[in-house]
Amino acid sequence: MVDLLKLEHVSKSFESLLAVNEVSFSVEPGQVVGLIGPNGSGKSTLLSLIAGTLSADSGRITFDGQDITHRSADQIFQLGLVRSFQDPSLFFRMTVLDNSLLPVKHQTGENPVRAPFHRLWSGQESNLAAAAGKTLAELQLSQHYTARASDLSGGQMKLLELGRSLMGEPKLLLLDEPTAGVAPKLAYTIFEEIKRLRQSLGLTFVIVEHRLEILFDFVDTVFVMHAGSLLAHGTPAEISANAEVREIYFGE
Ligand SMILES: Nc1ncnc2c1ncn2[C@@H]1O[C@H](COP(=O)(O)OP(=O)(O)OP(=O)(O)O)[C@@H](O)[C@H]1O
Ligand SMILES: [Mg+2]
Repeated sequence: MVDLLKLEHVSKSFESLLAVNEVSFSVEPGQVVGLIGPNGSGKSTLLSLIAGTLSADSGRITFDGQDITHRSADQIFQLGLVRSFQDPSLFFRMTVLDNSLLPVKHQTGENPVRAPFHRLWSGQESNLAAAAGKTLAELQLSQHYTARASDLSGGQMKLLELGRSLMGEPKLLLLDEPTAGVAPKLAYTIFEEIKRLRQSLGLTFVIVEHRLEILFDFVDTVFVMHAGSLLAHGTPAEISANAEVREIYFGE
């Protein structure tokens, strides 16, 4: 099968710190991949390199057949690669519905030439609001459409981030700790949603997550980073049994 995402010897330094060191891996369409590693091992930096918010010093990144190594974050987003952040990056003073509409591509009402003519964009806007409403309902946020994002619980903010990512019509979602700061039961619900989205929309996911006991129930493959390098990869069962991984995680 043709890879949806491919990294070849990707490296990134911050001054003297080699944060990502010659990382190579590939992700097939429809896969759900876990990216794990101790704090500071380079996981978030790697997601930023893929999403184009940081630029690689060397190596090559290919997405959906195109070389995206030095494309801008916006160009990469337009190709269908969407990233969520470790800390909720919502617009807290805006409503839940408005937050979810932010990433929608090609909104006619945003075109300054067309914006003054209500009839040119009002139909599209109602359709988008309906689509956003459906997505939010699926994520159990229908009670909160008109609430400010700041009034949501931590778990609901994470669900809204997921919903907002979906409104960008992604092919690949990079999720950075989608359950950080969320109670265990809701963390499981978030992963159930990811599973459902994978099945219903055929989406592909790369998920950074520290809660291995939940992550391992949902992913096909796990990549392990340690001090900027890829230490191991395999099925959750293989990674759980890997002596090197057990040593960096549990000091065994
Ligand atoms: N913008 C930056 N400038 C300088 N150093 C940075 C920058 N971003 C990250 N680093 C450093 O790069 C290393 C990798 O950081 P990164 O955030 O990628 O780790 P991580 O695996 O996501 O960690 P965590 O699990 O704690 O989120 C760390 O030592 C971090 O301090
Ligand atoms: Mg991180």
